[in-house]
Amino acid sequence: MSISMPNVVDVLNTAQQQIQRDLEQVLHLFELPEPLKSAVHHSVMLGGKRIRPALCYAVAKITTSKSSWPAVRRAAVAVELIHCYSLVHDDLPCMDDDDLRRGQPTCHVAFGEDTALLAGDVLQSMAYEVLSSQIFDEEFNELSPTVALKQVCLLAKASSAMVSGQVLDLQAEGMRINQQMLEKIHKNKTGALIQAAVEMSAVTQLESSSQQMLALKTFAQAIGLAFQVQDDILDITSETAVLGKTAGKDVQVEKSTYPALMGLSQAQAYANQLHKQALSALEIFGNGAQDLHAITQFLWQRQN
Ligand code: IPE
Ligand code: IPE
Ligand code: MG
Ligand code: MG
Ligand code: MG
Repeated sequence: MSISMPNVVDVLNTAQQQIQRDLEQVLHLFELPEPLKSAVHHSVMLGGKRIRPALCYAVAKITTSKSSWPAVRRAAVAVELIHCYSLVHDDLPCMDDDDLRRGQPTCHVAFGEDTALLAGDVLQSMAYEVLSSQIFDEEFNELSPTVALKQVCLLAKASSAMVSGQVLDLQAEGMRINQQMLEKIHKNKTGALIQAAVEMSAVTQLESSSQQMLALKTFAQAIGLAFQVQDDILDITSETAVLGKTAGKDVQVEKSTYPALMGLSQAQAYANQLHKQALSALEIFGNGAQDLHAITQFLWQRQN
């Protein structure tokens, strides 16, 4: 079946505007002392592709239901907050020790390690408050508390998988590991949160055992792994100015990456294969998945 494709720039711009507004509103609600407030603002509001929120919104388009839209927006905010926390901690000197993120000084460079550590901590708590407080909000009276709880559970699981992946990633520096182990690292440190973005939106409308949910899971797993394979490739093929983070860093610290394991062209072929898998998982949705198609095409060709 041929899918009519919306303009990917429109899909991403709309998602970016929506999440920017919602994040701004949410940050405004939290009373944080300085310099924590500025560190959180710095880490959340300045740039980022906002792929995870875009996935939440695109999934919601598959089976549109007005009543579940507020819960989808909360999912998008929560997953982006956890993602931002993961970046702040990932960049710390005790982890990847990076100075540049989203074209800005990293959080610890701008605010100090102590504040960066605490900014990551508070971002986590904020994410879970955003999700769990849904049940107290009048706007959400149609939302089953079970849906909010499922979202919390999905995010918590993915977030701890991300931490496990990060530990394995650090341990694998300078080591020769096999593809099975590398896949485990990538699926955990990056794939899990991308999958959570898809599922936290999907649970607002779909039963966990439905065929559509299973197809979305397959899609999310493929795209989640592809995302980190591509991140590894871009570390080599892209430039600092485009990436907004220091290019060539993985090679410098001997990270275990797909290009390091199988060579650049094989890694590129693997990324292509995963993107194709992701697209074929969407076939059952026909035109309903056109925004997910557009995002997948964007990820396939992304340069940062
Ligand atoms: C970077 O994620 C870290 C990884 C999980 C690979 P993104 O590439 O989504 O970073 P931003 O949010 O666009 O800055
Ligand atoms: C990202 O892996 C994993 C996270 C949980 C943030 P990387 O360490 O490769 O991400 P970048 O390249 O610094 O964005
Ligand atoms: Mg890292
Ligand atoms: Mg890093
Ligand atoms: Mg990387």
